[in-house]
Amino acid sequence: MDLSSSLLSLKLPFIKLLLSLLIVTIRGVAGSCYTSIYSFGDSYVDSGNMQYLDADVFGCYVPPFGESYFHLPTGRCSNGRLIVDLTAELFGLPLPQPYLKTWNESVANVQEGINFAVSGATVLDASFFEEIGSVVLTNVTLRYQLNWFKDFLAHLCNTSSILSSPQRYESIFNFGDSLSDTGNFLLSGALAFPVIGKLPYGQTFFHNATGRCSDGRLVVDFIAEAYGLPYLPPYLAIDNGHDFKHGVNFAVAGATALDPQFFKELKLESLLWTKDSLSIQLGWFKKLKSSLCTTKQDCDNYFKKSLFLVGEIGGNDYNYAFFVGGSIKKLRAFVPVVVDAITKATSALIEEGAVELVVPGNLPIGCSAVYMTLFQSPNKADYDPKNGCLKAFNSFAKYHNNQLKRSLEMLRQKYPHARIIYADYYGAAVRFFHAPRHYGFFNSTLTACCGGGGPYNFNNSARCGHIGSKACNNPSAHVNWDGIHLTEASYRHIAKGLISGLFSTPPLSSPL
Ligand SMILES: *[C@@H]1O[C@H](CO)[C@@H](O)[C@H](O)[C@H]1NC(C)=O
Ligand SMILES: *[C@@H]1O[C@H](CO)[C@@H](O)[C@H](O)[C@H]1NC(C)=O
Ligand SMILES: *[C@@H]1O[C@H](CO)[C@@H](O)[C@H](O)[C@H]1NC(C)=O
Ligand SMILES: *[C@@H]1O[C@H](CO)[C@@H](O)[C@H](O)[C@H]1NC(C)=O
Ligand SMILES: *[C@@H]1O[C@H](CO)[C@@H](O)[C@H](O)[C@H]1NC(C)=O
Ligand SMILES: *[C@@H]1O[C@H](CO)[C@@H](O)[C@H](O)[C@H]1NC(C)=O
Repeated sequence: MDLSSSLLSLKLPFIKLLLSLLIVTIRGVAGSCYTSIYSFGDSYVDSGNMQYLDADVFGCYVPPFGESYFHLPTGRCSNGRLIVDLTAELFGLPLPQPYLKTWNESVANVQEGINFAVSGATVLDASFFEEIGSVVLTNVTLRYQLNWFKDFLAHLCNTSSILSSPQRYESIFNFGDSLSDTGNFLLSGALAFPVIGKLPYGQTFFHNATGRCSDGRLVVDFIAEAYGLPYLPPYLAIDNGHDFKHGVNFAVAGATALDPQFFKELKLESLLWTKDSLSIQLGWFKKLKSSLCTTKQDCDNYFKKSLFLVGEIGGNDYNYAFFVGGSIKKLRAFVPVVVDAITKATSALIEEGAVELVVPGNLPIGCSAVYMTLFQSPNKADYDPKNGCLKAFNSFAKYHNNQLKRSLEMLRQKYPHARIIYADYYGAAVRFFHAPRHYGFFNSTLTACCGGGGPYNFNNSARCGHIGSKACNNPSAHVNWDGIHLTEASYRHIAKGLISGLFSTPPLSSPL
């Protein structure tokens, strides 16, 4: 097959998807009269999206671009209006606004049209160009633009944010820590009266504490919803008659990627909230496996339709050490060890039959109320002027993430049959601090909703749920729930970011 026909065969499914989406979406066609215009494309169509991506690949943002009509550069790669603008005028509609502008400011007339085009965009994904030894100018391919469109539609139609769907996966297995624990820590009895076992934990969605470290649902819950599956029962509850053929959650709040032995050697063992580290969770999975499937064939068939979420995990390995004064320089030496533990667990799951795996990186910890409080600095230069977060800790999270990404790349080469997806929690969450209002975060993005005072409402002597603390009355306007964990609203946006493919590489299979 020559290159052009193979390109065409790759393009066609996207174009069909695009057309079918547009056909179902554009209603309100009365005779020849359209009431809205949605456009997709590259620099022939882009009316300003590229500038919000902090790049100007064709130099279209400086005079004399725009001189004939707008009398200033608008991001359009011409001296004036583009075909899409003239088309809108023909139908008496306003010029479609760049989609990314809506992330930064409120934009009028969005229901009359939005432009998703980005200069330099390609129909095919960047991986295709990498293979043929070429580079892309932007990763916002047609597929990404489509995901933006779906995101936008959900906003416009005020539908429940993630559309539920026919089943893409038949089960989900999750490993991790408090970012995804749905009850194991509580059931493990590690603490006699843990605060996560009572309100205000759970107040927003479950109206009762479930052992989730948030006011409501977690990323794993939104993923289950999106794929039309029930919320995952915690492993430690499944003896109590839970149905677990649609998946099980092995995550435990406080869990580490490394085994307790590692922390014992550092004399940090007494700090661990739980000994149920990643390898223990893996052991639970192996134990349960025989009740899920029996022969290799049977297991392969079952796991082919399963999604495995390996983390977020590893954050606590660093937290424990940072909270007792470990320096960033010293902790950088742990990173390869932590990444290795996550990679080994991912390999082990593939060896057990997993083929679709999501491995998340760390969050922007330099923006979390606990870090902002414990590592307050009189030195303004320690804070990122763009978001007010602690630069060094965010760099540390990125350092971990980059190593994890490299390690996953090697794993992909070792297991070409598996789909190993990196979930960019950092990228999905750091958006909240750059354009908070776009996500509905109207109150301070750096202050916890639930806490006992202090500049970031995180007080170690009065943590959320303890005497002296209280929860705000609008958790959904806050990024941070209790100083350490995020609100349901944040988790929903992160989940959407992963499911849409914007923050998962390669993208998660669409639930649609
Ligand atoms: C986005 O908004 C911020 C603050 O309102 C502003 O400083 C920045 O220039 C805007 N970005 C663009 C590309 O317009
Ligand atoms: C596209 O994504 C790849 C992988 O995440 C990244 O290395 C590259 O810099 C991105 N390219 C652009 C132009 O954003
Ligand atoms: C959008 O949904 C929210 C919550 O479901 C509801 O309170 C609000 O009234 C809705 N807005 C519109 C314009 O329908
Ligand atoms: C809330 O949780 C407690 C303790 O788990 C339980 O006793 C109670 O019945 C629950 N309430 C509701 C309304 O589910
Ligand atoms: C949070 O934001 C809302 C909406 O802008 C405002 O009414 C409220 O007073 C704010 N609350 C705090 C504590 O800042
Ligand atoms: C932190 O909580 C303790 C105990 O409730 C209280 O005495 C102290 O004033 C609080 N600190 C701040 C900064 O609010």
